[in-house]
Order: sequence, then C-alpha cells, then structure tokens
Amino acid sequence: MASEKPTVVVTCTAPVNIAVVKYWGKRDEELILPINSSLSVTLHQDQLKTTTTAAISRDFMEDRIWLNGREEDVGQPRLQACLREIRRLARKRRSDGLEDPLPLSLSYKVHVASENNFPTAAGLASSAAGYACLAYALARVYGVDSDLSEVARRGSGSACRSLYGGFVEWQMGERPDGKDSIAHQVAPESHWPELRVLILVVSAEKKPMGSTSGMQTSVETSALLKFRAEALVPARMAEMTRCIRERDFQAFGQLTMKDSNQFHATCLDTFPPISYLSDTSRRIIQLAHRFNAHHGRTKVAYTFDAGPNAVIFTLDDTVAEFVAAVRHSFPPESNGDKFLKGLPVEPVLLSDELKATLAMDPIPGGIRYIIATQVGPGPQVLDDPGAHLLGPDGLPKPAA
Ligand code: DP6
Repeated sequence: MASEKPTVVVTCTAPVNIAVVKYWGKRDEELILPINSSLSVTLHQDQLKTTTTAAISRDFMEDRIWLNGREEDVGQPRLQACLREIRRLARKRRSDGLEDPLPLSLSYKVHVASENNFPTAAGLASSAAGYACLAYALARVYGVDSDLSEVARRGSGSACRSLYGGFVEWQMGERPDGKDSIAHQVAPESHWPELRVLILVVSAEKKPMGSTSGMQTSVETSALLKFRAEALVPARMAEMTRCIRERDFQAFGQLTMKDSNQFHATCLDTFPPISYLSDTSRRIIQLAHRFNAHHGRTKVAYTFDAGPNAVIFTLDDTVAEFVAAVRHSFPPESNGDKFLKGLPVEPVLLSDELKATLAMDPIPGGIRYIIATQVGPGPQVLDDPGAHLLGPDGLPKPAA
C-alpha cells in the first residue's frame, strides 16, 4: 500500500519506582495479577532511568532486542507477552476504526534497544523501568494510546507503576482477566516538592533470590502474607493515600517503614525462609530509628525491596544532616566510586549529641555510595533523533 511508511522509530525514557505499600504475591502467574494493591513513588529520571528505542520496518526479518548493548533472547515469555499484548491493542484500535491515516502493517517486525543510566551491578531494580519503557515505546511505534498497565504488567508487575510520575497506585482488581488491575496516579510529582529520596547502595555479599520466585514461594507457604494481603493492605492503601494527599511526613514515614518491615517479615515467614536484608541493612534501620529518636519525631524513613539496598525518604531540610550521619556510621572506603551521586548535598558537621545517640561502631565501606534524588515525572518521548539507540539500519549504534 502506497500510504505505508517504511520505518517508524521512537525513543522513550521511563523511571524507576519504589513501593511504600509493597506488592508481594500473585493470584495469577500468567497474567501477573497481584494478591494486593500497592503504592509507589516515582523517582526522578535525572538520576535513574531506562532509555528505549523501538523501530518497526517492513525490512526487518524478525523481532530482536538488545539490552545495554547485548542482544538478548526475544523468545523469553514475558517479552513475548508484552509484544503480543501491544499488537492485540493495535489490532483492536484498527478494528475500532481509530487507526492513523498512515496505517503501519501490524506484521512488521520490531527492533528494540534499551539501556539504563545506572549500573545494573548496583542491584537496583531495573525491570520496572525497563518494561514500562518498552510498553511506552511499543505503544508509540504501533500507534496505541490506550491504558498500558496490562502491557507493562505482563513484563513485570511493578512496571505498571512506572507508567506515571509522582505517586502511583496499582489497584489489584478483581476480574480474572485482569482488565481492572491497573495503575493510576494518586498525586503528580509537583505535589510534594520537599520530598527527597536517598538510595544507599550497600556492598552486596550475595545475589539475592529474584522477586518472581521469592513471592511464589511466599504465596505457597506464608499464612502471614495471606493475612497481610487480605486484612491489612486495604486500610494501609487508604492511609498511605491520605498521608500523601496531606503531605503528612510523620505518618507517611512511619507507614513506609512498617510496610517494609512487614514485607520482610512475610519473607521470613516463607518456608524455606527468604532474607533480603544484610547486616548493613539492619544497621541502616537502627541508624534511622536513632536519628529519629534524637529529633523526637520521624525525620527519615527507610524501605527495602528484594535486596539489601536501602531507600530513604526524607524532606529537603534533613538531607544534609542525615547524609552526614550515614558518612559517620559508614565511613567511605576509596573504592573508585564517588560516595555521593545525584543531587548536591551540603557537607555539615554532626553535633556531639547526635553522635552520642547514634552510638554505633563505624562500618567502613558498608555503603558503597549514595544516590540523592527526588520525586519525578513519568515516561517521556525524546524528540531528538540523535537520542535513538538504533541506527538507520535498525541495529544498535556503536557506543559513543
Ligand atoms: C519487593 O515486580 O519485580 O520490589 O511481577 O514477578 O516481575 P514480578 O515482580 P516484581 O516485584 C517487585 C517486588 C518488590 C515490591 C514492589 O515493588 O512493590
């Protein structure tokens, strides 16, 4: 058909998100439907993001994907589920008579290249940003503008929360087909400008068990997880939403810490038990509670996912003092990494009283580095053709 464009190429970026009410456990492994709703904070892409280029062309012979410059198996089931789902939505749009004036052949094969601006070795969850970015980029090349929760979710459950900026809820839904298991924004990134996020990258001792198999064992064996999902999470979702709407840091921080602790309690209740926290993680928990005790209120809150790294929430007026407390307790070892990355933080001296309250034997090198960031926007389309990760031949551009 003369009206068909030969090639369409789009480049997008998507953010990382951190849950403050955790998702842990599926009621449907195939559709990736959760046993409880969850709520997260989207982190700013200036510090952490995935960039993805998707291109479709009648010249491509097969679907192909490159992650951080390396070609990966396009046949893996979750990737296939995302591709199937986006093509289904594109077909639906066409049969609904909503197609673009220049329809692209849905039989065109796609090439995808994706990279993170943060080291995968840091053990930071990259699958959420990765699959959100994939869903967003595929939607643009195939001309789909419906809700993308299902596409991203089929890649990784938590990925549907990276489709929006600010504060995001993933409603578990009730339907067996998952049509009502969708993410939506609770408040935009501009809502709470004082909120700051510090990622404490811990020196990992071992590779932790992945979320997918971990949560599967938890669903099979933990009565505590079942109780949490059914009896506790609904009220926590409502309370967390209130804390965010009212910018109530005390209550937000306390609930964030309690929910992280409860998630890790369900891991310990799993049989055989799973432990994601390391000795350093536990020392960070102690440090946060002592720091708060010194101030007589909740000034910092920690949360941990399926690994030992801590994510700290605090307000802009507390960042400098808390970073100094972290430095005091975990003196940086020169390991080639700069200790503080991201947003600038003023150096300050700790008071003798605070040092006395912290009362910890320092653990040199326990924290490799800190990334200081804030709440950020959802996925973006990059208009600059120079940003494409694929060249005109549809293959990854050589690294600059
Ligand atoms: C602890 O979304 O990585 O980070 O759906 O199997 O891909 P799959 O799991 P994933 O699990 C995230 C678990 C968590 C909590 C959260 O982000 O809500």
